[in-house]
Formats: sequence, structure tokens, C-alpha cells
Amino acid sequence: VALGAQVSLVGDPGKRPPLRAEAVLHPATRKVALLGFGTVGRAVADILCREPHLRLTHVFNRNVERKRVSWVPDRVQWTDNYQDVLQSDADLVIELMGGLEPAHQCIRQALQSGKSVVTANKHVMAKYGPELLDLARQHGQQLEYGASVGGAVPILAALRYGLAGDCLVRACGILNGTCNYILSNMEANATTLPAALAEAQRLGYAESNPCDDVNGLDAACKLSIVTRLGLHAELNAFEVPRQSIANILPEDFRYARQIGCTIRQISLAELQSNSLRSAVGPALIPLQSPLAACMDNQNAIILTGERSGDTVLAGRGAGGHPTAVAVVSDILAIAAKGHSMPAVSSVRKYPSADLYCAHYFRICHRGVDFSRTLMNLIEAHGVRMRKWLQHPDSTNQLAACALEACSAGVANLVATAMEKLDGISQKPLCWPILG
Ligand code: HSE
Repeated sequence: VALGAQVSLVGDPGKRPPLRAEAVLHPATRKVALLGFGTVGRAVADILCREPHLRLTHVFNRNVERKRVSWVPDRVQWTDNYQDVLQSDADLVIELMGGLEPAHQCIRQALQSGKSVVTANKHVMAKYGPELLDLARQHGQQLEYGASVGGAVPILAALRYGLAGDCLVRACGILNGTCNYILSNMEANATTLPAALAEAQRLGYAESNPCDDVNGLDAACKLSIVTRLGLHAELNAFEVPRQSIANILPEDFRYARQIGCTIRQISLAELQSNSLRSAVGPALIPLQSPLAACMDNQNAIILTGERSGDTVLAGRGAGGHPTAVAVVSDILAIAAKGHSMPAVSSVRKYPSADLYCAHYFRICHRGVDFSRTLMNLIEAHGVRMRKWLQHPDSTNQLAACALEACSAGVANLVATAMEKLDGISQKPLCWPILG
């Protein structure tokens, strides 16, 4: 299926077979309670209520009365006290509250009280993943978090099982559906960033605080999880160099085209020379890259292994139904296996290093032709200019250029020096061009 293809999500539940044969399901995992009834919680409940072998027992949400829906069976207990869920006889708790607290404490308590947990919470898993997985092991329970990265795209399953026989050295992808929705719509339909963000919120893709999407924190948390599981390297989400997509203009897409590229929010972690390079933010990527074909709420990732080379995974990365599929798949995995945690390989801490790649600069200037001055300044930093980028119908005071490869640190020095030139009103934007 082409990356842009859409398929119908809604079938007739009465005519569909159950997701798994009853015999496969572990009897102790049938009673399932839900913490959080937002976009994803509703979509998970929708699947569970059609599934005879999984029994929804509780729904917790703050101000639960405004959340009640008639299609959930009467036997389900609605509550705004999560202790009702944690102290219940549910075998498995699905945490979809989002945010760090109280979600983190709820997961801890659930594991301590002998319940397995499925979560879509990337903040909690990025920050507390190792300690929670240890806790689950100590209590003989399972903690699954496939929905925390990539929505319906089984990125974590690929890292844990499919590619476990290789040593992965690089993960490079689009891990935030909201930013991808914004950028692909700015490019294809000339939508403005605020309008595209508002639509992404309406469609249930964005975080409750959409700043976390736009400024890259959401993607950095996902990158941290991917890096730990796939590259066996520690990466603190809050220390990943990040840039916001908020400054991208329609002109940037036109400049990018001149060098055969488009722009996406890219998350990158790479092991090289015994150090770890990471970044989240706008990047120029070649039009022929699988990442450039990623539209709307899709996510995609290229995983590079020493022996397997590049493996590409892509699909719907945000929204209620795609994320609910990942949640229910985790429930089924727990149900089928019973309670047994596979061993987790050790994770190393590497020194961090700057990205080393070509860079795109966009400069806002007043009137005069700056090309000679800028060229001299760039060369004075030991960097070579690859191309001046001009848009023929550009009447505003923007200029852009592509530089040959240099470290992100040097590129930043160039940008700082440019800012000091007369006629340049703000620090130029500087984004990586990924090959
Ligand atoms: N806000 C997130 C995104 C939701 O847009 O990707 C899925 O994690």
C-alpha cells in the first residue's frame, strides 16, 4: 500500500470474527480496566466492547460524568477515583491518562498490586521506563508500551523481536503525527501552520498541550524509547538537541525543492565512533526518501543495522484508532503469553556528539544583496557553500543557502556570526540536510 493510501476503518462489528481464538487467551487477563477516556481511551473501549474475550470492567477519568457514553455496557463501572481501578479485581490496567503524574504512580501501584499494565505514555516510559520494567519483573507482571511510539506502526515490536538479531546503529524517522500533519499540509495544500495545527487538534492527533508536539518534546521522548530499545543506548529526552517547527515558512518548502528536498520534523539517533548523535527538529530530506512520502498523521522510521542495512516501517502514527490498535495488540500479547517478561539487554551511556551533515540556512535581511558578505563569513568558518537558493517570485527579504557538511556546532557559530551583520534582523534558521 502506498504511504499516502487511506483504508476504511469502520467495519460491521457483528460480522467480524473476534481478534483471537478464545483458547489462545490466558484466562487471567480477561478483566481489563481503563485509566483515561480521551481520544485513545474511547477508541480502545470501542474495540474492547466488541471483543467477547476481553472484558472491560472500569473506566476512570477526571469529571467522569461528562465522559459517559451509552455504548459501553452497563456492567462497566465509571469512576473519577483511580484507586477504584487499582483496588479492583481487574487483571490488567490500560494507562491512557497521559502526562507524567499521576500516570507514573498509577502504573507503579498497578504493577505492585499484581496487575499487568499496557500504556501509551511516552513521557512516563522515556523517563521511568527501566525502573518500571524492573518493577514489573519483580512482581511477575508485564508492562507493554508499544503504543507509546509510532501509533499503529509496530516500531517497538520490530526493535524487540524482528531486528533483535542485529546491532542497530541508527534510527531516523518521523515520530510525531501532529507535526507531520502540519508540514505535509503546509507543503501540499498551502495550509498555514496555525490552521493545520488546529485541524490536527480537532482530529485528535495533538497532545493536550500541543507545544510538546511543535517544540519536539513528544518526539524526543519517543526517540529516547527507540534508542534505549534499539540502539541499547541511554538518551535523556530532555537533553536531545531540539528545534521547533514553528518557524517554518511556505518559502522554506520552495527553497528545499531547489535542492531536491522537502521538510519534515525528523528524530535522529546515531551511534558513530563510540558516541551518540541525536536531534529532533525540522530537517531537509531528499524527495526520494521514504520519509518524504509520509503524509498527514503518518509516522515512518528507517532503522539501520550493521548486518540488515535499512529497514523502513511506516503507517498511521497518531489518532485514536491507530493508537488503540497498538494498545489492543499489547493486551493480546500479554493475554497470549501469560505473564513473562523477556530479558532486557543492558543499555550503555555514550558521550554525545554533534550531528555532522550539510545544513540549510534561511536568512531574513533588509534590502541589500548579502550573498558576497555571507559567502565570506561562511568560508571564514572553514565551511563550503553548496548552493545559493533563490525563489524567482520571492518579493520578501528572505535568502537561503545550503552549506556542505560541517558539525552542528560550527553551523550554529555561522548562524550566530550572521546575526551580527548589519541588515540581518534575527538569528538565521539553521536546519540539517539529511542524505
Ligand atoms: N501527539 C502525538 C503525535 C500523539 O502527534 O504523534 C501520538 O503519540
